[in-house]
Amino acid sequence: MHAVAIVAAAGSGSRLGADRPKALVPLAGRPLVSWAVEGLLAAGVADVVVTVPAADRAAFAAVLPTEVRLLDGGASRTASVRAGLAAAGDADVVLIHDAARPLTPPGVVARVVAALAAGAPAVVPVLPVVDTTVVVDDGGVVTGSLPRATLRRVQTPQGFDRAALIAAYAALPDGTELTDDAAVVRAAGVRVHTVPGDERAAKITVPHDLVLAEAQVRR
Ligand code: C5P
Repeated sequence: MHAVAIVAAAGSGSRLGADRPKALVPLAGRPLVSWAVEGLLAAGVADVVVTVPAADRAAFAAVLPTEVRLLDGGASRTASVRAGLAAAGDADVVLIHDAARPLTPPGVVARVVAALAAGAPAVVPVLPVVDTTVVVDDGGVVTGSLPRATLRRVQTPQGFDRAALIAAYAALPDGTELTDDAAVVRAAGVRVHTVPGDERAAKITVPHDLVLAEAQVRR
């Protein structure tokens, strides 16, 4: 089974307060995108495409292995993934990963790949929700709570049958922005399976996340 990984790395990093694209922000001295790509390679996914901000392509090329292909991303994550999908070639399955999850253990990648190999058309790594989770109105007043036992937090990499993912993106109306790729295939009626995620695959969004990741690397 030929797997290609697309790493979305074209975000700005504004919520991190960074002076460069988030994927180039250093974690223990190495850019987030380098960690994320290494995790995929360590799991045996050798075909990796990274979508980058067009203006920073040279900076990404300087920190990534030469066999990694670079493509210009878009103005949204959805647009960046669409750009990456054009380079999926004849792969059987596609993994979509966020550079913002640099310390994703190779075991998470392996679980996603194994579920695809077993025939799942779409797979996401998930974790339980430990906090009570509520719905609020525009004024911040709680209007309801969700049954926690049925909720999951969704991580990446998310894995897909290539043909199913390409068809789902083609069917997504232009301008529709979804926060992950499983939502795109679900909108097309594809069943999305789950495998266990890992707390170490946490997403780097705000400065505190980087502090936690630094501590994780030092352990
Ligand atoms: O903004 P957020 O952290 O949710 O972004 C998730 C991932 O999507 C990041 O790795 C980011 O680099 C990527 N992204 C992208 N193109 C954009 C916006 C975000 O590839 N235009």
